[in-house]
Amino acid sequence: MLVISGKEVSAAVRQTIAEEVKEFKSETGVTPGLAVVMVGDNPASAVYVRNKHKACAEVGMYSEVHTLPASTTEEELLALLRQMNENPALHGILVQLPLPKHINEERVIANISPEKDVDAFHAQNVGKIMIGNYSFLPCTPAGVMELLDYYGIDPAGKNCVVVGRSNIVGKPQALLMLERNATVTVCHSRTKDLASFTKDADILVVAIGRPKFITADMVKPGAVVIDVGINRMEDGKLCGDADYEAISEIASAMTPVPGGVGPMTITMLLKNTLTAAKNFQKK
Ligand code: GUN
Repeated sequence: MLVISGKEVSAAVRQTIAEEVKEFKSETGVTPGLAVVMVGDNPASAVYVRNKHKACAEVGMYSEVHTLPASTTEEELLALLRQMNENPALHGILVQLPLPKHINEERVIANISPEKDVDAFHAQNVGKIMIGNYSFLPCTPAGVMELLDYYGIDPAGKNCVVVGRSNIVGKPQALLMLERNATVTVCHSRTKDLASFTKDADILVVAIGRPKFITADMVKPGAVVIDVGINRMEDGKLCGDADYEAISEIASAMTPVPGGVGPMTITMLLKNTLTAAKNFQKK
C-alpha cells in the first residue's frame, strides 16, 4: 500500500512557497503577513496556532499570534478584526475555531475582510468557490486535493464518498471533488447504512472526529483512504477517524495520522497567505 505522506508533500510545497516568498519580497519589498487569533485556551487550538506561527517563519513570512482570554467579548474581538482589516502589514487573518460559546462564529467570520480571509470561510469566498471562481480554497480540503495530485490520483469518474459535512471540511471537500469530476456522495451522522456507501468508494475521505470509526469491513479493497481526523487517545497518542492498521491491509493508498492531511492544512494556509499578499500588490 502507498502511504500518502503529507509530511513529504508538505516539505516539497513549502520549499516552493519559501522560494516564491523570497522572490516576492525582493520584487516588492513586502513581506507576506498573517495574523492568527485564538480566544480561550483550547489545548488542541494552542498546538495548531503555534505550528502556524512556526511555519510562517520557516518560509520567510511575518506572523503575529494574538492569544485572547476566554472572557473576551465578541465586540472586543470584532474591534481587533477591524484594526487587522486596515493593517497593511497583514495580508491574511485567521481566527482559530472553535470560539467560546458566547461569541457568534458566523458574525466573526463575516467581519474578516474577504481579501484577507485565508481560511476561505467568509460567505463571499464560499460563494466564489461554489461557482468555481476563487482566490482561496479552504486549507484542509485544498490540502487533500494537493495530496491526490502529488501522487497522481485523479478523482475524475471515480466514486468519491465524503464522510462528514462540516463547513470547514466535508462540504467544501465534496465541492472540490465534484469540480474535479468525481461522482460525489456526502454521508453524515444521519446516513442510514453508512457502510453501504463507504464500501462503494474509490476515494473515501473521512472527516468526522471519531477515533477509528471507519473499520476495514467498511472499505472497498483497493480504495484510496484520506483520513482528516486527528483524535487524541487516552494514552496521549494521535489517531485518525479510520483504523489505519487494518485498512492498510486492503487499501491501495492511505494517509497516516499524524503525518497525513495535518501538515497539508498549514501548507495551504501559507499558500493562501502568499496569494493574498500578491493580490494586494496587484491592486
Ligand atoms: N479549527 C480547525 N480547523 C481550522 C481551520 O482550518 N481554520 C481555523 N480558523 N480554525 C480551525
